[in-house]
Amino acid sequence: MSVSDDPNADQREFWRNAAVWADQQERLDIQLSHIGLAAMGVADGLRAGAHVLDVGCGCGQTSLQWSERVTGSVLGVDISELLIEVARRRGAEHATAQPEAAPISFAVSDAQTADIAKLADRTAPDNGSFDGFDLVYSRFGVMFFADPVAAFANMRAATRPGGQLSFVCWQRARNNPWLISINKAVLEIVELPPSDGPAVDPFAFADPDHVRGILDAAGWSEIALEPHDTELVFSGGCTLSETVDFAMDLGIARQALKGHPPEVQLQVREAVTAVLAPRHTPAGVVFPAAAWIATARN
Ligand SMILES: C[S@@+](CC[C@H](N)C(=O)[O-])C[C@H]1O[C@@H](n2cnc3c(N)ncnc32)[C@H](O)[C@@H]1O
Repeated sequence: MSVSDDPNADQREFWRNAAVWADQQERLDIQLSHIGLAAMGVADGLRAGAHVLDVGCGCGQTSLQWSERVTGSVLGVDISELLIEVARRRGAEHATAQPEAAPISFAVSDAQTADIAKLADRTAPDNGSFDGFDLVYSRFGVMFFADPVAAFANMRAATRPGGQLSFVCWQRARNNPWLISINKAVLEIVELPPSDGPAVDPFAFADPDHVRGILDAAGWSEIALEPHDTELVFSGGCTLSETVDFAMDLGIARQALKGHPPEVQLQVREAVTAVLAPRHTPAGVVFPAAAWIATARN
């Protein structure tokens, strides 16, 4: 596919360079695991031998978790070569450590445009009779498509009749201070330079009516979005200083601080520390967080 035919080319470019997701994989997994597990818990009566598609699987924690919950197979797809490389390494280690888990495969693939059913691992023991995925799942991996209706229609095309969709996405930014309070502290000191890069908005699915409209237009039925109000440990079990390092890496600080002298960097670091310090507990820095758990059926 040429770049001009690739509707998510800018997202591909962004996520292939998203080294923070690979470097900080363990902390992000601690931060997000319980929310992803909540969206796994709503999948309804999966049959024996069920096949699961994990969309925007990143470094693959949720694919590994699914492989311990189903007996068919798990396919993790992600647009980022970098993150799939980490996922493949973890998948191989997991298969050795847990030989009884369902087989997992990973593919670098755009969930909006790929022929996903073709990527299903036909060599897996139960996949001879593959007639589509029983479940399409995602932990925060479906908010970044250029054409979300086309993407969800494409995922539905890979799902067997009666198959399910279950994913988790963020509610509004103001309900998720773990990101906006840090960004606000940074932006009170330095401006974000103008960017010609892609808009990567983790809150793009914050409006439940917008999400319902997308899923409906993509042909899904029995659509439901349930609020999931929770807490997250921002940087699992770390010291305050390590958590500040993590926050400076994950949010907009790194981009906003480009070219600024050390004294400004220090000033921003102190401002971020002031946001995180009151929330520091023995378990780490704890914030409220609010997500939607979306479900639907083909
Ligand atoms: C916020 S990260 C979540 C990663 C992972 N699910 C997790 O919870 O750790 C979003 C993921 O969506 C992936 N992504 C973005 N656009 C995509 C697309 N068009 N097709 C497949 N994956 C995509 C990114 O590469 C990234 O790994």
